[in-house]
Amino acid sequence: MVYEKNKIDFRILDNSNCRLIKALQQDKYTRNWNEEEIEHLLKKGGGHGLIIYFSKNPIGYCFFRDLTDEAEILSLEIKSKYRNKGLGSLLFKKIESYFVDKRIRRCFLEVNKNNNLAINFYKKIGFVYIKNIKNYYKVNNSYQDGLLLQKTYI
Ligand SMILES: CC(C)(COP(=O)(O)OP(=O)(O)OC[C@H]1O[C@@H](n2cnc3c(N)ncnc32)[C@H](O)[C@@H]1OP(=O)(O)O)[C@@H](O)C(=O)NCCC(=O)NCCS
Repeated sequence: MVYEKNKIDFRILDNSNCRLIKALQQDKYTRNWNEEEIEHLLKKGGGHGLIIYFSKNPIGYCFFRDLTDEAEILSLEIKSKYRNKGLGSLLFKKIESYFVDKRIRRCFLEVNKNNNLAINFYKKIGFVYIKNIKNYYKVNNSYQDGLLLQKTYI
């Protein structure tokens, strides 16, 4: 680990801070969620999430949908400058402690087949490949396949 642990902090994603997400969604593979969509997700859609801070600055987030005994990761990003230092894994571990408390049995997500960085990341933290989803993503005027990945807990 190359970061200073005492500079890292987490806050629960809620209506007061969800506007921060917009600025953190920079990656070409991240679908941009606007404030209204996130508020709706948190209020009515079973949404939960965390923002990770480094030296009091927001540097990443993860949010997911809680589907009783399953969870779907909807979005996850660490600012590019802070990547590959173990922070994404640390953030995901925090999310997983929620899964354990809520007895989530399975977590799944979709990832663009060309997003090797994220695929490596998810494999590293224990996700396995389930299936290919043909033409799942629309990128400009073409379609790209997605992969369905999952991790089981109980
Ligand atoms: C995916 C993402 C959140 C990972 O965050 P991160 O903080 O860089 O991840 P970590 O530093 O915890 O890396 C954990 C593992 O991921 C893999 N990984 C991370 N960066 C990598 C890189 N540049 N090249 C290859 N593998 C990489 C490695 O296996 C790494 O483990 P290791 O350090 O023991 O080798 C980050 O790359 C990101 O924000 N990507 C853009 C947004 C995105 O694609 N989100 C997912 C959409 S589904």
